[in-house]
Formats: sequence, C-alpha cells, structure tokens
Amino acid sequence: MQTDSSFTFVLFGGTGDLSMRKILPALFEAHRAGGMLADSGKIVAVARHVADRADYLEWVNEHVKPHVSKNGVDETAWASFLDRIEFVKIDLGKAEDFALLRDAVSGMPGIRVFYLATGPSLFVPICHALASVGLNENSRIVLEKPLGYDLKSSNAINDAVGEIFAEDQIYRIDHYLGKEPVQNLLALRFGNVLFEPLWRREWVESIQITIAEELGVEARGDFYDNTGALRDMVQNHLLQLLSIVAMEPPHSMDSDSVRDEKLRVLRALKPIDPRDISKVAVRGQYHAGVIRGNAVPAYATEPGVKQDSTTETFVAVKVEIENWRWAGVPFFLRTGKRLADRVAEIVVNFRAVPHSALGASALRGGANRLVIRLQPNETIRLYCLAKQPGEGMNLASVHLDLAFDQFFREGQMEAYQRLLLDVINGRLALFVRRDEQEAAWRWVEPILNEWAASNKPPKPYAAGTWGPAAASAMLAQHGTCWLEEEN
Ligand code: BG6
Repeated sequence: MQTDSSFTFVLFGGTGDLSMRKILPALFEAHRAGGMLADSGKIVAVARHVADRADYLEWVNEHVKPHVSKNGVDETAWASFLDRIEFVKIDLGKAEDFALLRDAVSGMPGIRVFYLATGPSLFVPICHALASVGLNENSRIVLEKPLGYDLKSSNAINDAVGEIFAEDQIYRIDHYLGKEPVQNLLALRFGNVLFEPLWRREWVESIQITIAEELGVEARGDFYDNTGALRDMVQNHLLQLLSIVAMEPPHSMDSDSVRDEKLRVLRALKPIDPRDISKVAVRGQYHAGVIRGNAVPAYATEPGVKQDSTTETFVAVKVEIENWRWAGVPFFLRTGKRLADRVAEIVVNFRAVPHSALGASALRGGANRLVIRLQPNETIRLYCLAKQPGEGMNLASVHLDLAFDQFFREGQMEAYQRLLLDVINGRLALFVRRDEQEAAWRWVEPILNEWAASNKPPKPYAAGTWGPAAASAMLAQHGTCWLEEEN
C-alpha cells in the first residue's frame, strides 16, 4: 500500500538499547519494504553522547545493522535508509537545548512523532520542554513502558503529559498488541461464527495465558530488580491479552470501539481481597539451574540485582471476571524468566459433554481444548476426541492444526514495525488508553502492596523448570493443570 502520510519521527534515546534493537530496525524494514513510509519522511535521532550526524550514522552502522533483516541486509535500501536520518545533539536535562530541536525540525514535513525511548523519569520533563518551544502542536507522542511504578505514579505521568498532549495524541506502547498472532486472535474470535457461541461460561471451564521466557534479566538487572514480573509483564502484556480473549465483540475495529470493550473487561476484573492473595497469586524467584544443557546462575547473583532481593521473576495468578459471560470461569495467568521453554500461548479448556453415550473418556473435562500459540511458531490447535480405529468404541485425543507459516509464507510483520506505522498513520487501536492502564494498575495494586509488606520471600524455583510447585497446586485446586503437565 502506497502511503503519502509524511512524517518527522523524532527519536529520543537515539543510542539506547530499544532504538538499537527494535525501533530503528523496524523503521528500516518499513523503508525496505517500499511504499510503507512516505519518501519525504525523516527520522531525527536525539542523543547526548554522540558528536554529530556522521558519528551517529557510524553508530547506526555498527549497532543497528546487525539487528536488521535476518537474511542479510539490502545495501541499497540501507544506504537510502541512512539518508532519512538526521541527528540533533541535546542534553535532555537542559530545556534550552530544545530550541535546537525546534530549529532542526521546523522545515521538515508532515506530522511530528516524538518517540520517548527513555526512562520514564524523563517523560514529563521532555513533554514540558517540547511545549516550551511549541513542538506539541501537530504532533504525536509515543510512551514506552514502564509508565509508572504503581497507580499513583502512572497517574502523575499521565496527568502531566495530558496537560500538554490531548489523549488522541498519546500512543502508549504495549508491544504485545502489535504482534501478528494477537491480531489474529481478533480475527479468530470475530471473523468466524464457529467459536463465538462457545466462548462463554456455559462451555468454557478455564483459560490459561502463559508468557514464559528462557532468558533471564540480561543486562537489565538494576531495572528489573526494582520492577519484578508483576509490573513488567502482568500489569500490561498479560492483562492486555486477557482483555482481548475475554472482550465482547466490538461494534467496529476503530480505536475506541476496541478499547472500550477491553476496558469493560479490565473494569470487571474481580478485585482481589488482600487476605486471599496467597491463595490466588504465586510469586517465585529463580535459583541456579540448567537450561538446554547450559548452567545459568541464580537471579540474586545477576549483575545489578541485590543479593537479598525479594523481587519476583515468576508470577502465576488466578483472575475472575465479574460479568455474565465469564462469571465463575478462572483465568490463570502466568509469566516467568528462566523457565523451561520460551512460549506464549492461550489455552481454552472447554467443558466435558453433559452426557456421554461413548464411555467415561468423553466426560473428562478438557477433552476439547483450543491452544493458541502466539510464539514461537504461531499455531492454532483444536483438540477433539475421535474414535480409535479397530474394534469397539475407544476414544483418543486428536488435534486439528493451523500453522500460520504454512498458509502465509510472506508478509509477517514485527510488532514494532506495525506499531510505528500505526503511529505515523494515526491509528490508535493498538495503543493503550489511559483508562485501560488505570484499570490494570488498580487491579494489580493489592498484590503489589501485599507482597511489598510481606516478610515471606518469593518461592524458589530452579532455572529451567516451570516455576514453583505452588503454581501447579493452585490449578490443582480447580481440578486442572498447566498445559505442559497434561500427559
Ligand atoms: C518486555 C519486558 O516488555 O517484554 C521484558 O520488559 C520481556 O522483560 C519482554 O522480556 C518479552 O517480550 P517478547 O516479545 O520477547 O515476548
């Protein structure tokens, strides 16, 4: 699709990790694909520790190029991509430096996008400085997570940014919303008649949503130790996935129709009574272990992490939704670092048939199950019972598979590429609205508070396992188990 939406994309934190690994590679892919970015569009990187444009381009060549195009870089496209890049040296601590930015972008075309790939403590000062030189007009602002540390601090940032930018100028990124399979979840639910009638308490027994990682905290120990898995993954990615799984069919796919429905789910989450937290939430921290044959150290010995840290690297939590569709259906959310596998998936366990003429196996709950694998290897797998060949009526579990890479060999887009194109083209549907964010913070806060006040440390688990046994025990109380525990 040819676009003529011209833009000036200003990247704060131009030499940061996110710019290097995600943002600039995504912009390059859009550029290379042709037709996605207006030819006149410009990228203006802002950084402090680089002398000038030539130096910045050197940095881009050295650090960004290795992260683009797995199958080798198209050198012609790379050279023309570099032509788009300008550079402004600014000390973000000095508001007066922003006049330099205003002068640099004043003749540049189209909508201005300010991408804040910086720490959240800089969001408000940058917005004020932009406003002081009139750059908040005809512009959009992109805020990376974490947006705050709790409800209060997130509100403080949103209030301050909201004084300078209107809500429809603010793009809060949750990169999970940009993933192709998450988009596909909407297509699966609302493009087919097949699932919708069954997608409710009468037919669904329980739902699991897992985002498991093999990676540890890498170079982010310091950040992570002050954050933990609940803030890093549950408050945003997992609750966003939950809201898409559980939402009512929207009237249309426009931004507010979708976000209104997600908000209804987030507001219907059953508040957790602080006295029940140990029953409905499990927190864990990894100890040394082995992943795919490699020994990995304990969390508490990672660089930047306090030796006596009680930060959780694993969370499993039971969520209930108080509405007619979902009352009484437990949703189990789980995430962790240094787990046995890297996998993100949604498991919908359907109820057993109400009466079986075919023997007890058909009465077993979970005989019908839909597994939506988000990553890696995007697949939808529907489990059914079928008759085993031969004499007698013996049933066996079989599955129908839809592997997306076999149907669609091309055209997959990375989350950041989709989201950046949406910002440039003014599409807000895949960005988190302020009220959604508040509802999510409100729901996690009792758990955060209880864990902060508790003198019980997180439950240990060996790296390379599926987390503390208590996470399995929580499901066992509901007569179910995690998918990998099925035999
Ligand atoms: C980020 C978290 O938001 O998501 C990281 O801060 C986590 O800790 C990452 O590793 C996971 O994203 P993905 O796309 O690799 O599943």
